[in-house]
Amino acid sequence: MNKYNFSEPRDRRKSGCVKWDDVYYDDLIPLWVADMDFPAAPCIQEAIQKRMEHGVYGYVHEMESYFESVQQWFKKRHNWTISREAIQPVCGLVQALNALCRSLMKEGEGLITQAPLYNGFFPSIDNNNIVLRSNPLIYQDHKYTVDWDNLEESASLPDSKIMLVCNPHNPSGRIWTREELQHFADIAIRHDLILVSDEIHCEVTPLGMMYTPMALIDGIQDRLITMTSPGKGFNIAGLGIGNIITENRQLRERVSQALWRNFVPEVTAFGVVALEAAYREGEEWLNAVNEYIGENYRFLKDYISNNIPRLGVTRLEGTYLTWLDHRAYSFSSEEVFERLLNEKHVRVSAGTLYGKEGEGFMRVNIACPRCQLEEGLRRMKDFFTSLD
Ligand SMILES: Cc1ncc(COP(=O)(O)O)c(C=O)c1O
Repeated sequence: MNKYNFSEPRDRRKSGCVKWDDVYYDDLIPLWVADMDFPAAPCIQEAIQKRMEHGVYGYVHEMESYFESVQQWFKKRHNWTISREAIQPVCGLVQALNALCRSLMKEGEGLITQAPLYNGFFPSIDNNNIVLRSNPLIYQDHKYTVDWDNLEESASLPDSKIMLVCNPHNPSGRIWTREELQHFADIAIRHDLILVSDEIHCEVTPLGMMYTPMALIDGIQDRLITMTSPGKGFNIAGLGIGNIITENRQLRERVSQALWRNFVPEVTAFGVVALEAAYREGEEWLNAVNEYIGENYRFLKDYISNNIPRLGVTRLEGTYLTWLDHRAYSFSSEEVFERLLNEKHVRVSAGTLYGKEGEGFMRVNIACPRCQLEEGLRRMKDFFTSLD
């Protein structure tokens, strides 16, 4: 029995919530945007309450205890020693990535990454006229792996500048192994690329497989920029807080300039206290939420194999985003998305939102009370069995 009650649905409607208030239907089951339908850990709520009672909400600066909490958390949880100077707080990773693309790259230069790819990255690429060199992942036996030859080829093009790695990977659910991370790093080193590692999902490890920070990989530290945040794991994305971690002094200076010149906004009073509470006191809650999401995943797998066996379930390692393969049905991702939404009032994310490589798939967020997931799956069963 879980100490925290993740099973009880919370009404998030009319709270300005993207996932629920972008609604079209009263009985909508939203399984899309990447946040959880669970309240944040009590320690976070209490810290915010205390800060709220102070009553003055002017501009804020992170205090030393903030940096200590980041250092202590990553050391204890992930065996990663971070120096104080390496940490640059930001209010959002997407904004930070945009600033990095703008300042560290020139128009026409190439950014290399794996596809399918988190859709929030696309504007940073398009708006800055840089070239997306996406390396399609290989899908086999319900699992994605990297096409290393193709990656090496893209990396070797003279105008390739940044390699972006997402770990755990959204939307494939992969946690890259140490060997895979070493491969990414070696390719970046061989071709003199900056490696940006987006580790925003690093706390969401519902099946017990822990992630390895890219910073622990041999030889990469000098060209590495890591983006981290408690936003996903502790479900505080709406508070806008994260950190860019760069140990190399010259590279860090370039990152600082990029954030500054591109007006990446300052952190907020509540974001700072929430991060500190999460990293100092939130571990028990985090373990519990991971356990619940792990059970949701097992539930989804069993439900689909018993009721919608032609739907494939990609093996989930990290994130709470499952990636379902509907290629056995002759409908595009867009059609499945539209019909599930309009006929069954279930909102998933169409695979093609993550690039053309996502065709035939849909992304389903399982960080919600089980009864909600069950109802969503029941409606999916009605839909897919009507196509059989
Ligand atoms: C891989 C990845 N990076 C970044 C973000 C967004 O980060 P932020 O809210 O800090 O901009 C998301 C949100 O889903 C994500 O999945």
